[in-house]
Parts: sequence; structure tokens; C-alpha cells
Amino acid sequence: MSAETLDIELTVNGERVLRNASARQSLADFLRLELELTGTHLGCEHGVCGACTVRVDGEIVRGCLMLAVQADGCAVDTIEGLSDSGEIAELQSAFVLYNALQCGFCTPGMLIAAQALLRDEPDPSRERIREYLSGNYCRCTGYQAIVDAVEAVAKARAAKTK
Ligand code: FES
Ligand code: FES
Repeated sequence: MSAETLDIELTVNGERVLRNASARQSLADFLRLELELTGTHLGCEHGVCGACTVRVDGEIVRGCLMLAVQADGCAVDTIEGLSDSGEIAELQSAFVLYNALQCGFCTPGMLIAAQALLRDEPDPSRERIREYLSGNYCRCTGYQAIVDAVEAVAKARAAKTK
């Protein structure tokens, strides 16, 4: 091990990962380059656009602002894991139904953020959905369809629990 790398152990999408990581590598780069989990996108690379959103120990974070070595001992979930587990299946279907994506670049981050909102606040207003997702930039859709899709899922989930 050189002075600029560290051995880290983390859980990614439910699987144990052991790697010798560069001390300066972002979590997003680590996921993309070391683990080939390229659903985590990189846009601005300085914490503005939300394209790199992932979940660390249950909370959403900007993967470009966190170092891989800071995730040592953590549980990381990426869009691949949330998709494979079915956790975001309703959101994915709603995004398709409402045309809430065009190029799709923002979509993984948008879905992870939307899932976090609905987990913590099952019945958000449209204004709250807009506010919560305001840290996730979309250059294509104008956001209306995204808000429609998230609202539809919130209402569908609420109807199921009645
Ligand atoms: S790439 Fe991380 S916030 Fe834009
Ligand atoms: S669908 Fe293209 S950036 Fe959002």
C-alpha cells in the first residue's frame, strides 16, 4: 500500500467490497471506475447538479463530494442496486408513463432523491416535491413531468395503505 492509497471495506448494493482506494478518489469515481457502476453519473463534479446522487447508510449524498475512503465501513446503494431490488420500480414506471426523462442523464440521481423524499415524507405537496428535487438539475424536461411522476407515486402508495 502506498502512502496515497488506503484499504477500504464497504458494502455496495448489498455486496461486500474490499479495495485499495486512492486517498483522493471521489466515491462517484470509485463506483464508476473501480466497480463499473456507471449508473452514477457525473455532471458538474462540484456538488451542484445532483447527477452523482447515491445513498450512504440510508442517506442521499453527492458522490462527487465524498471521497471513496470516507465510505469505508458504510453501506452504499447506487441506482443499479435500487433498480435490481425493485425498491424504485414504481418510480421508474411512473417516469416512463409521464415522460419524466428525455436524455436520462439526470434520471438516476432524480430517482434516488425522489425515493428518499417519499420514504421520509410519504405525502409531499407538489411544492415540496419541487423544493426537495431542486438540487437535482434536469436540462431536458422542464421538471413538470418529473413532479407529476413523483406525485403520482406518492398518491398510489397512499391509496395502497388505506
Ligand atoms: S456531479 Fe456531483 S453534484 Fe454534479
Ligand atoms: S432528462 Fe436530460 S437532463 Fe434530465
